[in-house]
Amino acid sequence: MQKKVIKKGRIYWPGKEIKKNAWVNSDKIYSKADKNPIKFWEDCAKELEWKIKWKKSYKEKIPFFKWFIGGKINICYNAIDRHLKNKSDKTALIWIPEPVNEKPIKITYKELHKQVCKTANLLKKFKVKKGDVVSIYLPMIPEVVIFMLACARIGAIHSVVFSAFSSDALKTRIKDNKAKLLITADGYYRKDKQEDLKKKIREAIKKTSIKNTIFVKRFDKRAKLNKKEFWYDEELKQVKEECLAKAFDSETPLFLLYTSGTTGKPKGIVHETGGYAVQAYKSTQLNFNIHDDDVMWCTADVGWVTGHTYMCYGPLLNGSTSIIYEGMINFPNPGRCWKIVQEHKVSVFYTAPTAIRMFKLWGEKWPEKYNLKSLKILGTVGEPIDYSTWEWYFKHIGHKKCPVIDTWWQTETGATLINSLPGIGPFIPSVSGKSFPGTKHTIMNEQGKLIKKGEGYLVQLSPFAPGMLRTIWKNKKAYKEKYWIFNNKLKQFYITGDAAEIDKKGYIRILGRTDDVMKVAGHRISTAEMEDAIINHKSISEAAVVSKPDKIKGEVPIAFVKSNQKINENEIIKLVVDKIGPIARPSEIYFVNDLPKTRSGKIMRRVLKTLLKNEELGELSTLVNPESVEEIKNAINSKKI
Ligand code: WT7
Repeated sequence: MQKKVIKKGRIYWPGKEIKKNAWVNSDKIYSKADKNPIKFWEDCAKELEWKIKWKKSYKEKIPFFKWFIGGKINICYNAIDRHLKNKSDKTALIWIPEPVNEKPIKITYKELHKQVCKTANLLKKFKVKKGDVVSIYLPMIPEVVIFMLACARIGAIHSVVFSAFSSDALKTRIKDNKAKLLITADGYYRKDKQEDLKKKIREAIKKTSIKNTIFVKRFDKRAKLNKKEFWYDEELKQVKEECLAKAFDSETPLFLLYTSGTTGKPKGIVHETGGYAVQAYKSTQLNFNIHDDDVMWCTADVGWVTGHTYMCYGPLLNGSTSIIYEGMINFPNPGRCWKIVQEHKVSVFYTAPTAIRMFKLWGEKWPEKYNLKSLKILGTVGEPIDYSTWEWYFKHIGHKKCPVIDTWWQTETGATLINSLPGIGPFIPSVSGKSFPGTKHTIMNEQGKLIKKGEGYLVQLSPFAPGMLRTIWKNKKAYKEKYWIFNNKLKQFYITGDAAEIDKKGYIRILGRTDDVMKVAGHRISTAEMEDAIINHKSISEAAVVSKPDKIKGEVPIAFVKSNQKINENEIIKLVVDKIGPIARPSEIYFVNDLPKTRSGKIMRRVLKTLLKNEELGELSTLVNPESVEEIKNAINSKKI
């Protein structure tokens, strides 16, 4: 029997069957795209429908660049209307509520079209125009996709905020983008409990630009709303069904998505329409080998870029079926995901290493209870995946038949950039793969020079991928400084913020962040943001947050605080959870008399990290207060016992 995946040493290759079914199965796609990357992307773009074709494909003046200049497109039209001719009765979305007694809901392309058009008209009724920002704070329910597409249909910019983020986090984002309308829900289900969102929302919008709030009704009982609050279902009855999808300039902002950087404030990453549409479409098709009968399940919350691109836009642009699951992956038991795969014949399963580590911990007895034969491709994203987790995923979920596609990318890049393609391979545990066709990544050394082979800073070379960010919302300066300047010089390449290793064939292994950003269970969190929250405590004068390796979450935040009196750990935890959300909760807190610092007063987080890992400290001569190190070492050791 032909095996679907072939193992050679520690490397896996696609077998004949996979190659035969793949969109691309020969290395030629890389060499051809390499010769003329702009032409590669033009050819991809031609597969979508443009109202007016672009005049010039690509233009750059670093740090700025544009794609498909002069072209006019509507991404919502391409994600829905374009399929109505042949696929109007095909299921576009399958929504699975968390409570097991509630039935899944299937929405066809035709139904989605109707709902999105009405919703777009509703937005217009609320005076939303092209270029306006709409804040969306919705849980994992179909309406989140409907509202995103409705915004896109009329040229409004959506800013989706993860529904488990705190009230403060929502407020900070609204204050930055000045949205006038907030779309939200009365709540969602978590472990059979109703999570009420109303209180959080009312607190968040106080003293902001928000004028009106639209509530999607998730619970049976209708809560009491005030004058500026409206029920979505009731409002929808009052609008028309027809809404023309006007085409917009390719470089029209499509969405803002806030992410953590090295400062205390999250940055609004700006993605434009045309280039993003092209890359979301093509990367979904090639990475996951999407064909007509596929059902794609990207488990990421829509509040992250992964949910934007591979739960919403990517599958729909490909006319595929996308799963939206409301709840916890282990509710009511750790077999939930596999039950969903079996019931809905999921063929592409895309998740994060942290989830896979949980599955592994819960044991193979859970996936073994279900028929997972529908699975064809497994994906992973968000943080480096270690060898044994990769192998477990490959063996116990994919039954050694599904390629594991380890996709490297960022909120900033909009779509995947480094991974192997299923029909080409190879699939190497802990190695993401090559640059996606039409893109190029390499390594920069400490001196700012590009090297072809070895370890260093991962950078992207021109032409920059079409789905990349164009700027940071209302902050060009930060955009330039964060991604393009190294050693005080403007560089002609995009600096990713990651360290990586590249070999002579172009295979890339991601080593992790080089800045003060950590990945906690795949979520990107800035140490500065956490420190800012902690310093708000009146008795705390200084704080440093660093990450520590963790078996399940990859990394966890550890806080070191200097305070002038005894305080309870819970007060610190509350400050962090209130400012950011429960995902940022510090897992350990140390009270110290002093923090290791350089002569210029900079806290040496590297020293703290090394101490936590119990590793050799190395050179400490730059420290102004080396005695602080001993004290911290003792504190860490005494906690261990
Ligand atoms: C950072 C970006 C892009 C979707 C989710 C994360 C890390 C991402 C991988 C991978 C190793 C990875 C990088 C990157 N990362 N994918 N396959 N292997 N590391 O988006 O929250 O913007 O985080 O996640 O460090 O810079 P994000």
